[in-house]
Amino acid sequence: MNQEKDVVSHAEPGGTDTSDLFEKYGEIIPRGNVLFYEGDNGQQMYIIQSGKIRISKRVRNVEKTLVILGKGEFFGEMAILNNRPRSATATIVEDSKLLIIDRRTFETMIRNNSEIAIRIIKKLAARLQQADNQIENLLLKDNLSRMVNFLRRWAMEKGAPAAGEFSFAYLREDLAEGAGISVELFDEMLKKLSTANMIHLSDGRITILNMEGLERFTRYLEMKDQFKDLT
Ligand code: CMP
Repeated sequence: MNQEKDVVSHAEPGGTDTSDLFEKYGEIIPRGNVLFYEGDNGQQMYIIQSGKIRISKRVRNVEKTLVILGKGEFFGEMAILNNRPRSATATIVEDSKLLIIDRRTFETMIRNNSEIAIRIIKKLAARLQQADNQIENLLLKDNLSRMVNFLRRWAMEKGAPAAGEFSFAYLREDLAEGAGISVELFDEMLKKLSTANMIHLSDGRITILNMEGLERFTRYLEMKDQFKDLT
């Protein structure tokens, strides 16, 4: 069972099964709908029972995806918790079943159950960590550094060991977006890494041949970037 679904099932005395919760709080919303825009006032938070939601922000007139959220995840809690306008826009990208929880119910859930509060705090801490990683990545100036740094972190989030081989399925658009580079550049960088025998590509999968080697390469690229004016 995933954590946020668990959050909800503990929300009422004695626990409530998901179909009861859906009857009470659920809505099915088709793809293409915008739930709210960045800057809107927000009085509700959402828990995803199925489907996919894009969280995006407008940066210099371009809509940038921050994250795509799926089953079991929640969003829209920030406006409620800090009494501020929506920090980002939420768009349904795959028909979704959502639990829509109003401010009072959400606050009652948190007040009455410290386990729920702790789970939410953990999730928020993980998001902050991810945002820090994104900032670190954006501070890297050259594209290869961004790409390699992002690739290593992505693999680690998927459970890669500190050393040795690790393989995972990928969508080039997701990885390019996450690394902050164009898909064309991403392909170019992947080819370079493959030629250098750092990765192997086949059937929509990337195999990192040595996680430790990739880490060393990341450090080398960072240093190269840091000291480039001295050489
Ligand atoms: P809120 O500010 O109410 O509306 C936008 C929501 O997007 C926000 O609450 C969070 O739930 C979610 N959100 C904003 N930034 C991120 C992020 N970087 N990662 C995941 N979710 C986010």
